[in-house]
Amino acid sequence: MHAPVMVREAIELLKPEADKRYLDGTLGGGGHAEQLLERIGPDGKVLGLDWDEEAITATRHRLHRFGDRLVTRCANFKKAKEILGEVGWDKVSGILLDLGLSSHHIESPERGFSFQAEARLDMRMDRRQSLDAYRVVNTFPVSELERILREYGEEPAARRIAIAIDAKRKRKMIETCRELAQIVERVVGKRRGRVNPATRTFQALRIAVNRELENLEDFLENAYELLFSKGRMVVISFHSLEDRLVKRAFRKWNQSCLCPAKTPFCCCGWSQKARLVTSRPLFPSREEVQRNPRARSARLRAVERL
Ligand SMILES: C[S@@+](CC[C@H](N)C(=O)[O-])C[C@H]1O[C@@H](n2cnc3c(N)ncnc32)[C@H](O)[C@@H]1O
Repeated sequence: MHAPVMVREAIELLKPEADKRYLDGTLGGGGHAEQLLERIGPDGKVLGLDWDEEAITATRHRLHRFGDRLVTRCANFKKAKEILGEVGWDKVSGILLDLGLSSHHIESPERGFSFQAEARLDMRMDRRQSLDAYRVVNTFPVSELERILREYGEEPAARRIAIAIDAKRKRKMIETCRELAQIVERVVGKRRGRVNPATRTFQALRIAVNRELENLEDFLENAYELLFSKGRMVVISFHSLEDRLVKRAFRKWNQSCLCPAKTPFCCCGWSQKARLVTSRPLFPSREEVQRNPRARSARLRAVERL
């Protein structure tokens, strides 16, 4: 199992307290949840959400020593409010999101996230959904493919790659991850250093297939409502698009008025919801990146509910 990222920093910033309840919106392999459970005493509980059934099953098994102190649900974190209601918790003392893929996804070639895999293009984290990477790659219009590659992958060769995909699929459907990676490599050239030339394309497709930015944006719309006063929220993100959404939401919550500048008196009805705990993102230590290269693009932000 890959080590979970920035665990020490995340747990310290959450300031876990004995016998309180916490929400881990991205349970994954349970590395963060485990540390939280260790810190919150015999009556503290964690509600762990993950939309990947396999992650929930494996982590429930691995952390069975915590018994009913770990409550799990297979669900999208954007439904957190509803699920907290179902569980009867209403609010929590802290929330953690550690976004992106889990080690399980990366290590399971059949899930279709890896460049080298002969596996079918899939990339769904939630296998209950019907949209997968195969459908995006083989049926989306060229202009939409180009938009996805440009916006979500920040891929400079977006147009050329989209055209190459279209030329290929007109002859025969693109079935596997490796086939797609080869098409991209033919357009942008061979691997430079350790970064595979298809990295941006794969990231873009993954974000589109899983609607990652939409889910995060939905969640951030009013996630502060789920926190008790002084409760903290920590988000670890892995690319600038996610981090931008987190930064924007946290800054908004930190403001006392949303009226445009120079408005003579406040008429927005907004009030400050939280204060920034980190005014700039925190990055993993050099030692952590050396130990765990997956940590290299991580950044962490935290807020505290007023
Ligand atoms: C980076 S991993 C979390 C790792 C975890 N913190 C640990 O210590 O092992 C992210 C997890 O969040 C899940 N995930 C991503 N987006 C989600 C969403 N919108 N709703 C629910 N789960 C999500 C993924 O399936 C994955 O298992």
